[in-house]
Amino acid sequence: MRGFTLWFTGLPCSGKSTLAEAIYETLLERGMKVEMLDGDEVRKNLSKGLGYSKEDRDTNIRRIGWVCKILTRNDVIAIGAAISPYSAIREENRKAIGRFVEVYVTAPIEVLMERDVKGLYKKALAGEIENFTGVNDPYEAPENPEVLCETDKESIDESVQKILRTLELMGYIPKIEAEVDYSAEEEEKIKSRLKDLGYI
Ligand code: ADX
Repeated sequence: MRGFTLWFTGLPCSGKSTLAEAIYETLLERGMKVEMLDGDEVRKNLSKGLGYSKEDRDTNIRRIGWVCKILTRNDVIAIGAAISPYSAIREENRKAIGRFVEVYVTAPIEVLMERDVKGLYKKALAGEIENFTGVNDPYEAPENPEVLCETDKESIDESVQKILRTLELMGYIPKIEAEVDYSAEEEEKIKSRLKDLGYI
């Protein structure tokens, strides 16, 4: 089986890490070689010392992209999960990696502020954090992601199934007969997205 990169992008608290973790576990259980690069973790080692200016974020995303590239070319499935707010750098990674599947994880900003897992939206709204993505720093949404996960409307399981089905239809992972937790209508949406992108 050949490698590929599964890249999660989205605002803070959108659900990137949760979905990335769930997919990671599923692929491991299926016996695949898979590695995960989560923004929070990467910022403790590979990107230690970097902040949240555009320049530092770009450096962070290029570093994660570089590791994903070398994993991918060694037939590992690389999972990246970071806000990655700038589309130009995501596109740069896509070009460099080739086999690159972008998952846009999203929910309305009010929902994200309500979730506020680490209390950072609250701090940013109170003016205690500068450059907080979604409050006082930009996020450029992907225009043509391979997968769209609207985490206010679908369960974790539904999102996971949708991602797996997309990977199967792209021929990136073998198809297995699993209990599906999404509708026929959803299957049509997945197929029509991949048709529009020229994959099938
Ligand atoms: S990225 O922009 O470079 O892709 P990354 O995903 O690595 O960001 O890190 C985001 C995490 O850093 C958030 O989950 C949050 O916990 C923390 N963080 C701290 N300050 C900020 C900030 N100003 N903007 C966004 N996230 C921040």
